[in-house]
Amino acid sequence: MGRRYAAVLRVAPGVEIVGYADPDPRALDAARRISPAPGFADHRALLAEARPDAVCVCTPDDLHREPAVDALDAGAALLVEKPLATTPEDADAIQRAAERAGTPAMVGHLLRFDARYAAARQAVAAGGVGRVLHVRAFRSAAAADRRRRGARISALWHLAVHDVDLARWITGCEVTAAAASGVTDLDGALVVAAAHLVLEGGALATLDASWALPDAFAGRVWTGFTVMGTTGCLDVPSTHASVAAHAAGGVTYTDPTRFFEPPGLSPQGALRDEISAFLDAVRGRTALPVPLVEGVRAVRVVAALERALASRAWVPVAT
Ligand SMILES: NC(=O)c1ccc[n+]([C@@H]2O[C@H](COP(=O)([O-])OP(=O)(O)OC[C@H]3O[C@@H](n4cnc5c(N)ncnc54)[C@H](O)[C@@H]3O)[C@@H](O)[C@H]2O)c1
Repeated sequence: MGRRYAAVLRVAPGVEIVGYADPDPRALDAARRISPAPGFADHRALLAEARPDAVCVCTPDDLHREPAVDALDAGAALLVEKPLATTPEDADAIQRAAERAGTPAMVGHLLRFDARYAAARQAVAAGGVGRVLHVRAFRSAAAADRRRRGARISALWHLAVHDVDLARWITGCEVTAAAASGVTDLDGALVVAAAHLVLEGGALATLDASWALPDAFAGRVWTGFTVMGTTGCLDVPSTHASVAAHAAGGVTYTDPTRFFEPPGLSPQGALRDEISAFLDAVRGRTALPVPLVEGVRAVRVVAALERALASRAWVPVAT
């Protein structure tokens, strides 16, 4: 993700990239090929020497707390990738640091900037489906993603957190209870998880997240999101194979709604729009579109799902 952020920020009006931090020198080289700026092996050196006004944290899912808190303590505005954290304690620590600092701090729940989900939210708020009865969502990614991430993070944290956030945001209802079951592979990594969430008002959300697609699956991710109500239904289907690029190495598929980097053009899609909305808020032009508390609430729900998976029992979620 850091590379995608660099590609967007490189052409963002009024933005200068003052530095990158990554302990992996290959990642620093890749970033500097997108836009030249000093590279630091430690984020603390970046904060001390480059003194950024704003920091984007794109570290692995379970390693957001330290760079996020240090950036806020250094007075920088913060955009931190989803999930905000992988424990409620880490999420609360980032939230407390933001309150101490008083600088704008936002969590990157990217799909809120996908026009299809935003339209679904507007329609639900306008009464377009009547009273919401059921949210049904699935998010399946390729097994290669599990091989890359599965040892440190579950599909619930990495994938289901998107749909947890969308279910809350689109229905406007908090989650009050969670249950889950899952399938593990021979290494013990969670491959498939099925989640049930009870929403305020009594609607049910059923979400599944998996890292079970074959690596050859077009676009390597397959999603669906449906809201059913007393008078209608809204469906946001997958766009996994929307744009096919054919070249000597074969065919690659791109979902143009999220990260679209058409050859010869600057990046387009939800990530560009998310970063642009963050920059507007940092400049004081607009309110923060996704305040940290939204990330804290999503973390609480996923933490409850993890507990439910382990205990095979319903787990209440504090609202
Ligand atoms: N919104 C989306 O659709 C989407 C898609 C992919 C990833 N993500 C999120 O983006 C984040 C990063 O995911 P990724 O796929 O880029 O992970 P990745 O593992 O490919 O890259 C993470 C990078 O962070 C570096 N790193 C580790 N510790 C660091 C530290 N203390 N300081 C600086 N750098 C450090 C690693 O060396 C690595 O280069 C995760 O939170 C993930 O959930 C979001």
